[in-house]
Amino acid sequence: MNTEADPSRRAAELRALLQRAAHQYYTLDAPELPDAEYDRLFQQLQAIEAAHPELRTPDSPTQRVGGAILDSLASVRHAVPMLSIRTETDTTAAGAEAFDARVRRELKLAPDAPPVVYVAEPKFDGLAMSLRYEDGVLVQAATRGDGETGEDVTHNVRTIGQIPLRLHGAAPPMLEVRGEVYMRRDDFERLNETMRQRMAVGDKAARTFVNPRNTAAGAVRQLDPALAAERPLSFFAYGLGEVTPVQDGGPRLDTHWAVLQALKAWGFPVSALARQARGASELIAYHADIAARRDGLPFDIDGVVYKVDALALQRELGFVTREPRWAVAHKYPAQEQLTTVEAIDVQVGRTGKLTPVAKLAPVFVGGVTVTNATLHNELEARRKDVRVGDTVVVRRAGDVIPEVVSVLTDKRVAGSAEFTMPAQCPVCGSAVVREEGEADHRCTGGLFCPAQRKQALLHFASRRAMDIEGLGDKLVEQLVDGGVVKALPDLYRMGFVSLAALDRMAEKSAQNLLDALQKSKHTTLARFLFALGIRHVGETTAKDLARHFGQLDAIMDASVEQLLQVPDVGPVVAGSIQGFFAEPHNREVVAQLRAVGIDWPEGEPAAAARLPLAGQTFVLTGTLPTLSRDEAKAMLEAAGAKVAGSVSKKTHCVVAGAEAGNKLDKARELGVPVIDEAQLRALVAGEG
Ligand code: IVH
Repeated sequence: MNTEADPSRRAAELRALLQRAAHQYYTLDAPELPDAEYDRLFQQLQAIEAAHPELRTPDSPTQRVGGAILDSLASVRHAVPMLSIRTETDTTAAGAEAFDARVRRELKLAPDAPPVVYVAEPKFDGLAMSLRYEDGVLVQAATRGDGETGEDVTHNVRTIGQIPLRLHGAAPPMLEVRGEVYMRRDDFERLNETMRQRMAVGDKAARTFVNPRNTAAGAVRQLDPALAAERPLSFFAYGLGEVTPVQDGGPRLDTHWAVLQALKAWGFPVSALARQARGASELIAYHADIAARRDGLPFDIDGVVYKVDALALQRELGFVTREPRWAVAHKYPAQEQLTTVEAIDVQVGRTGKLTPVAKLAPVFVGGVTVTNATLHNELEARRKDVRVGDTVVVRRAGDVIPEVVSVLTDKRVAGSAEFTMPAQCPVCGSAVVREEGEADHRCTGGLFCPAQRKQALLHFASRRAMDIEGLGDKLVEQLVDGGVVKALPDLYRMGFVSLAALDRMAEKSAQNLLDALQKSKHTTLARFLFALGIRHVGETTAKDLARHFGQLDAIMDASVEQLLQVPDVGPVVAGSIQGFFAEPHNREVVAQLRAVGIDWPEGEPAAAARLPLAGQTFVLTGTLPTLSRDEAKAMLEAAGAKVAGSVSKKTHCVVAGAEAGNKLDKARELGVPVIDEAQLRALVAGEG
């Protein structure tokens, strides 16, 4: 239609379209209009209103943003006072029982009278708001203030997308909606992230916020609606204030539950967690259910609220001072507290990962006293910009480990410095590295670092490494904790007496372990390399390295370029190997291991190329007449072949025994040659 011809009609049409789209987007979370289309219609409406200011209505979607900056907030006297709720601080089931017992007593119900019906809702952690609608249009939004008089924050509340500027469907001519303005946790996180980025580029006006509740309250009370609009707010409706009688056809409002349904129909977000509950037992179950879900909710709550459902009973119960006798707030333990950072320590984990940990002034939060909070890694510590001396918000939710949520940057002490990781391991003094593309810093003193000792020992002793039978979890714990083994070479220095003296160690087991240690001394270069636990050097890489270089010294002295010559070794692996052997502590451990008698037959460098099956890939399937799977594999590898787990076009040959299955079929399908054990033996002997 032609906007020039009838701007008034077109403006009304656009308002209706945009209102519907905003409700779908903000309240129902189910947008139907593409963003670009919304923007186009929005701009059309703005243009009409600019040309015809008299058509600009208070419920126009264009009024959600901008507007005049105020000098101060005007006072609003509430037509119906905004009550507070009695708080039940007993966080156990007894809190709900006490409330139900009180309600029954005051209603003079006989012990055998049926349970009272309640509505249970989350207690949202935001700020209470009263929204006044006249003839279906939002005309005023006011804070609670002292309950009698609040502040006019209409200009800011208009910017909240979830609040309808015009009611949906048939509504009373005068309606006051009560509810909670709050900020979602993800919106809060995003806002603080933006603030940190602005601070990082020197924006003096930027600051981080403490928690969603304070941020929401601050936003609502802004004098400049454009600033308020920068902070994404949400809303839940949970009650009514002044209401003129509902016209014919309107909803019958005789229970709180019906009020919630009516609020939803008028276009307000109502929490999907609200429930009707019969008697104390269902209130207790609700309290427990919401407690279990609390941490997963997208917004903060600090308890639940129980309300008598029947409005007639509410009237009968009435008020004491400014608290209704028909409602109670049943709290949960606080999950966030303020404290100060006394130090930032760096801990070294079993695998050598360095973790910065904030040492906090002790604070009681989430039911325990917290003195430590992990900062995860350097990036994370810097992202939050946590510094020694800072006042921080600590959160401990459920069984989740405590974390620093944010820093109160305006309380920061002068001269504090940004956190950086140490260049040397705080435990062993070895060099600290961070691989490209990784968030974690690591200690390179793998074999030498006491923090990594147990892990290193277990790996060293494992079946595919040095294969030291009997050296498992429990024994490693005992040996390290008892100070018997400080470093790998100590393993081979243990005597029968010191071993047999260990708790739960029989003489027979002590002797068995010594025998296993003795046996493990004669190994292969590949096993020894794998056993060292060099990051990124698995069994296959260890075999490739052994085959390529033939001798340990050549590997220890290899440059990254030389390491890159090895098949399948890339820059990350090469860098890790080079870094490991560049660390004097690690070279020392290797020297000592050789000194205690570990040896292997050293080969010729790059002998691999001359081996009969060099560069070929084999697959084993079925049961061979005499060779076990491991023996056949070792035989093939000794001849320079690789042994893969599945057949592909790249497979050179399949060795099949009895009961060969899919792999044989696949080989036939792809035309891959199939041989038996006898042919295998001939091949590796170079007779193929
Ligand atoms: S009902 C008469 N329901 O708690 C009852 N209040 O002290 C009036 N609140 O400031 C309030 N969630 O902002 C009610 N589901 C809920 C609530 C809730 C949070 C806040 C409210 C008020 C305070 C009561």
